[in-house]
Formats: sequence, C-alpha cells, structure tokens
Amino acid sequence: MSTYTVLNPATEAPVAKVPSTTVAETDAAIARAVAAWPAWRAVAPGDRAAVLRRFAAAVDSDLDNLAGLEVTGAGHTIGNARWEAGNVRDVLTYYSAAPERLFGRQIPVPGGVDITFAEPVGVVGLIVPWNFPMPILGWGLAPALAAGNPVVAKPAELTPLAAMRIAELALAAGIPEGVFQVLPGKGSVVGQRLVDHPAVRKIVFTGSTEVGKQIMAGCARHVKRLTLELGGKSANIVFADSDLEQAAATAPYAVFDNAGQDCCARSRILVQRSVFDRFMELLEPAVRGVTVGDPASPATQMGPLISAAHRERVAAYVPEGAPVAFRGSAPGGPGFWFPPTVLAPVRADDPVWTQEVFGPVVAVMPFEDEADAIALANDSPYGLSGSIWTRDVGRALRVARAVETGNLSVNSHSSVRYWTPFGGFKQSGLGRELGPDALSAFTETKNVFIAA
Ligand code: TAP
Repeated sequence: MSTYTVLNPATEAPVAKVPSTTVAETDAAIARAVAAWPAWRAVAPGDRAAVLRRFAAAVDSDLDNLAGLEVTGAGHTIGNARWEAGNVRDVLTYYSAAPERLFGRQIPVPGGVDITFAEPVGVVGLIVPWNFPMPILGWGLAPALAAGNPVVAKPAELTPLAAMRIAELALAAGIPEGVFQVLPGKGSVVGQRLVDHPAVRKIVFTGSTEVGKQIMAGCARHVKRLTLELGGKSANIVFADSDLEQAAATAPYAVFDNAGQDCCARSRILVQRSVFDRFMELLEPAVRGVTVGDPASPATQMGPLISAAHRERVAAYVPEGAPVAFRGSAPGGPGFWFPPTVLAPVRADDPVWTQEVFGPVVAVMPFEDEADAIALANDSPYGLSGSIWTRDVGRALRVARAVETGNLSVNSHSSVRYWTPFGGFKQSGLGRELGPDALSAFTETKNVFIAA
C-alpha cells in the first residue's frame, strides 16, 4: 500500500504516515456504501436520531485529541481547533433532531390523496479542503446521515488526520459499517473517482472555485446533485458613522484568523474617505498586536500557513515594492510562517484586490459614499461573506440588501452558526449548508397520488 507523510506546518516535522487510496479502493468503498444504504435508510427515525446523538457524544469525549490532531497536522491554534471539534459535535447534535422531522406534505387534489416524501438521495461523496478539515466534514456529513444517506468522504491530502479519527468514532458509536467511510488520498484520484462514479448520487465539494468548476462539469455527465462551497473575496465596509475603534480592533481577526486561510476572510477593507486616515492609525496597533506563533500555546492568535507551496503562493501577492502599510510579526526558523500584512493604497485591478489570497494579507481602499461602497463591494466574481460597520440602521439594511453575498454581519464579523444557512452568491458556490434547509440538499422529493 502506498503512503504519504503529513507534516506539522509549524515545525515541518513529520506527524503521520497515511495511506494513499487508489481508484480500485475507492470503487470498493463506494460498493460498500451502496450495500449499506438500504439498511441505513430503513433504520427507524428515532433510532437514527439516537445513533447520531451517540456519535456526537463520542466526538465530544474525544475533543482534546481531535483538537490536538488539528494543531499538529494543520497548524490551527488550539483555541480554534477546540472550537472546530466542538462544531462537529454541535452539527451532529443539531441534525440528530432531523430524522423524526423529515416531513412530507399532503396537498389537496380531487379524486384522491396526494402526498410527498423526502427520500434519501443515495451515496454522498464529500470532498473537503485543508483549511477547516473538521467543520466542513461535519457540515456535509451530519445532514447527509440524518436524511438516510451513506457518506464517502475525501479529506484534503494535507489534512486527513481528524477525519480519519472521526470515522473511527462513528463506528464505535454505532454508525454501521459502510455508512461513513473516509478515504485519504489525492483529489485527482479519489475525489475525481467520486465525481465520475455513477453510483455516487451527490457530491458536496468545498474548495477552490477553479476545481469546483471542474467538479460541476464532471457532475453534469450524470446529472449528479451538487453542493459547492467555493472561494471568496469578502468586503469589510466601514462607514464614517461607525464605532471606528471597534471596527479597527476587530478587523485583524476578520481576515487573519486561521492565518487568512478562511473562505469568509474579509480581505478587502473599504473605509469611508473622511475617516480613512484615522482608521489606519487605529488598525496599525491592532495588526502589530496579533500574537503569531506556536499554535499549541493558548495565547497564540495566528499560526502558520498550511505548506511551503501555499506560502509561496501567498508571498507572490506581496512582491518587492508592494505598498505595505504595516505588518505584524512571525517566527523565524522552520515552519510555514507569514506575518499579518496590510497593503494600502492598492489599485482596483491589483491581484491582491481582485483575487483570493487565502493568507494573512489584507488591502484597504477608501470609498466616497454608500453607492460607491456597494459598487466596490460587488465588483468581484465572488459573493460569500462580508461585514458592514455603521450606526445607521437604515443604511445597514440598505447596504445588506444591496451587497451580493450570502452571509453578512452588521457591526460584527460573525458568519457561521450551525443553525443558520451558509453559502455563496455568484462564483462562491451553489446551494446552502447548515441551518434548517440543508436537509433538502440530501433528499429527493417524491410525489405520490393515491386514488380514493
Ligand atoms: P482545492 O485545491 O480546490 O481542494 C479542495 C478539495 O478538492 C481537496 O480535498 C482536493 O484534494 C480535492 N480535489 C482537488 N482536485 C480534485 C479533482 N480534480 N476532483 C475532485 N477533487 C479534487 O481547494 P483547497 O486549496 O484545498 O481549499 C481552499 C479553497 O477552498 C479556497 O478557495 C477557499 O475559499 C475554499 N473554501 C470555501 C469554503 C466555503 S464554505 N465556501 C470553505 C473553506 C474553503 P487534494 O487535497 O488532494 O488536493
């Protein structure tokens, strides 16, 4: 069996050897999932709910271990990693309430009775990126299982460890063999096979917009159901009438959390011209104050980037002579470190303004008025997230309605709650995860008329 080595991004030391799944092994796993489906969908709703709650409890009792795997295997800060493992538990618990509530409808018709059923869609292929290995696994896994589907998951090649452990916990908690399998390996091998295999009825993909487009084309060959969560270039819009101190103090967290490797990163800051200079004065100490270092230390706010190759990609957005306004610090020595970096002024066609950097780099640009702010925010192929800072509630609502993006926050930077919908406009995605409606992405509506 061929294997590959997972590295610790903070030290570059090897952490684990992991099997690299082949196409034949992927086919065998899909066959096991197909075989497991009839029994899983037939489990009584209350029993399926109970096993999901046991699965959630197993994740909870393993929380420290799971968080540790994400610290050493993905470079996440211990605070974030604990939140991420807790998020898997919470999402499983939330959707454990679903099996008894998968209602159909009774629709009045003449000559009989018309009813609808929410049928499970079938084997779900779940393709996960390296930036949030645990939550993104959970967001697909929990509603898929709750709706009666088996899941074959492919974690990112760089970060498979927590997913592999979660699969062990599932089995121990009583999720039947074949109902949830994790296949570490390459996207071009395992991921591609999940997309191409006709017995996989649905793909949930989170990753880059570029790969997402290929996946969409592959799914089209089978009219395969598809949820896409893709890239972002979100705007943090700061109006002159806002609490400027609070807006500046929180802006670093909104983009540098997880070292900027966050699809929701507010990596474009738009500031009303009349307060631009004051905002920059307030932002500088906040950025210099970000604690970058050992992700295992509870005081650390930002860890390393995921890999040497990714650090090179990020660094290309800050070439010699780039307009660096100010920077934070980062450790020297081994590890894929990159300091928090603020660029201003930048041109509207600078790649750092138009492209997703996926690292701790943010650009700041002034705007004149509300219309200008909306136009600048919408001048992007992406539409995932964003923030609006203002004390004027009317303006907050007008701008929130006008910005073409799936997840907005006003006077805060919060995007994700497991009980509210999450997903993107435009090239940031297709469909929604989390919240009450995500189950419909894992079911087919069947309409039945009974003559009476
Ligand atoms: P990608 O390179 O697109 O990889 C994502 C996943 O797809 C990985 O598991 C990858 O496997 C796999 N993959 C690669 N090529 C494939 C193929 N031809 N067929 C099937 N699967 C394939 O993204 P990434 O760099 O890991 O993640 C960063 C991106 O994800 C960013 O753009 C970010 O914005 C986006 N993202 C979006 C969201 C939401 S919720 N919208 C959340 C997090 C991240 P390998 O690991 O082997 O390459």
